[in-house]
Amino acid sequence: MEEAGKPKGELVIRTIAMPADTNPSGDIFGGWIMSQMDLGSGILALKTAKTRVVTVAMDGMSFLQPVRVGDRVACYAWVEKIGRTSMKIPVEVWVERYMTGEQVRVTHAVFTYVAIGADGRPIAVQRQD
Ligand SMILES: CC(C)(COP(=O)(O)OP(=O)(O)OC[C@H]1O[C@@H](n2cnc3c(N)ncnc32)[C@H](O)[C@@H]1OP(=O)(O)O)[C@@H](O)C(=O)NCCC(=O)NCCS
Repeated sequence: MEEAGKPKGELVIRTIAMPADTNPSGDIFGGWIMSQMDLGSGILALKTAKTRVVTVAMDGMSFLQPVRVGDRVACYAWVEKIGRTSMKIPVEVWVERYMTGEQVRVTHAVFTYVAIGADGRPIAVQRQD
């Protein structure tokens, strides 16, 4: 199991895992976590490109530890690479365990976004540097 001491990147979304987010066995759905990651990294992509963006790929999704009802879920993300129209944004998900407050990294993946224009076609990302 990979070890990581503290979150990397900026906090992009924070929420709480609720009973409605579980499967019939009472475990939190992986798809719910992926959706939080997509929302969070999408905020960073939008902030970076300052235009409409779409998710084009999601790579290396690893679920390292379970998420439980009541856990405080936080997504951290950073822009790793800006291409012509695309942005690679790694995301880490950390939880603060319900009651104990223990901090655990539960999931990570790399999301790729593409900046698009009104016609839905890719447009160049304006670089800040
Ligand atoms: C995103 C989309 C506009 C790209 O269109 P396209 O014709 O493939 O465009 P291009 O081939 O010019 O690729 C655009 C950029 O995306 C990158 N890209 C395309 N497919 C990729 C993939 N699978 N993984 C990583 N990057 C990818 C290209 O490398 C290129 O990057 P660059 O400009 O920085 O060099 C189109 O694929 C699309 O609309 N997809 C659906 C997106 C969507 O609806 N997402 C939500 C899912 S519900």
